[in-house]
Amino acid sequence: MRDALSNPFQPGSDVVPEIWAGRTEQLSDWRDVLRPRLQAGLFERGRTILGEPGLGKSSLVRRIAAQAERDGDWVTPQIRLALGTDPVKRIATEVLRLAEMAGLPAARENRITALLDRVQSVAASGVSVGLRDRVGVEPHIALTELLVEIGYAAIRQGAVVLIHVDEVQNITDESLLSQILISLGDAITREVDVDVPAVGVVTRSLPIAVYLTGLTEFDDRSGARKGATFARRFATTTLEPIGDDDLRSALRPLIVSGWELPSPAGEMRVVRLAPDAAETIVDVCRGEPFLFQLAGQRAWYAGDGDVITRGDVLTGWRQAQPEAVSHVERILERLPQREREFVTAMAELPPRDRSQGQIAARAGFAKATDAGTPSQRLDRVRGIIGRGKVYTFRHRAIEAFLTSDWPAIGERPPR
Ligand SMILES: Nc1ncnc2c1ncn2[C@@H]1O[C@H](COP(=O)(O)OP(=O)(O)O)[C@@H](O)[C@H]1O
Ligand SMILES: [Mg+2]
Repeated sequence: MRDALSNPFQPGSDVVPEIWAGRTEQLSDWRDVLRPRLQAGLFERGRTILGEPGLGKSSLVRRIAAQAERDGDWVTPQIRLALGTDPVKRIATEVLRLAEMAGLPAARENRITALLDRVQSVAASGVSVGLRDRVGVEPHIALTELLVEIGYAAIRQGAVVLIHVDEVQNITDESLLSQILISLGDAITREVDVDVPAVGVVTRSLPIAVYLTGLTEFDDRSGARKGATFARRFATTTLEPIGDDDLRSALRPLIVSGWELPSPAGEMRVVRLAPDAAETIVDVCRGEPFLFQLAGQRAWYAGDGDVITRGDVLTGWRQAQPEAVSHVERILERLPQREREFVTAMAELPPRDRSQGQIAARAGFAKATDAGTPSQRLDRVRGIIGRGKVYTFRHRAIEAFLTSDWPAIGERPPR
């Protein structure tokens, strides 16, 4: 009964999980700010959502995109950029799909047909120099112009366009990165004149929303090298772990109403979560969405009764521990040496002694000021620590891993 098909928890990446927790600020930003403003013709910056692996960047924007789709908006799939592929080509392909949703291929204007041809050749062969020479227009300009046409069509049909580019840290080629940022940025900042009945000509922005998601490394590229223009066009958020109260709220329906199982025989079966089992899931996952799903998934499999017990959670978590360890180790291993030394030293000190100077001394840095850049990056770019009077951990799984037995849990499950 509690099998793979019925399991509502899903620790795989790139799926919108059925048990959803928190991120209300970002969801409301789309619903209450971004979408209504774009629909009203007001400019709104694109959104860049960065964070350490497993914090739910991709899922968040897929959830927003799913909502948008239900509202009739024109949405790209997750344009996931693999390392070493031509990102302009990928984006061009998806923009052509948007053009199809907009009905542009049926348009009779030569201008639009020529534009579609241009972008089709970009989608087919990418940004090749030969192509640029032959046609005389930079590929990314053709992309921008096609986006503008899609934007016009969206205005006419009352839709909003949502473009989601994922794993943006994989755009390692600077010239390609700048072409993409310019192309998308030019489209969202473009002002057009439209005829409004009874009012006349009104200048407005295009209803195009751009979401860029990826690892925090992207900040270095876009931030330092693209400078002020990028900041004026994209607002960056760094995701943090999910708060325990949000995780509790997410599990609450499983306690109160339970999870209904499809049953071949037709009778309804419901699996409930015991309150202390929910509390244990919240406790072991330390705000990590990935570990939350993992803990839930394993608890589901750990028994077959109508109630998921605390014992099930403990049994499940014991099996999940190696994965929990590699999850955190993966995040730590990605840190540059100085930053890793800094968090490790910070964890070794008692919480009240975690000042920059003491951490620097503990880490063996020659001067206290050597800790400046690593600690600033751990705070501002990665959201792993917070620099108050004493420094604190914001990434609670890293804290737990470095300062305690976690993910081990002391007691044995009741037999
Ligand atoms: N808000 C959320 N509530 C519950 N689970 C989530 C949430 N966001 C993400 N997850 C789960 O966490 C895991 C990692 O999410 P993902 O979006 O792939 O992370 P990222 O893209 O940041 O690496 C997935 O299993 C996903 O289902
Ligand atoms: Mg992702």
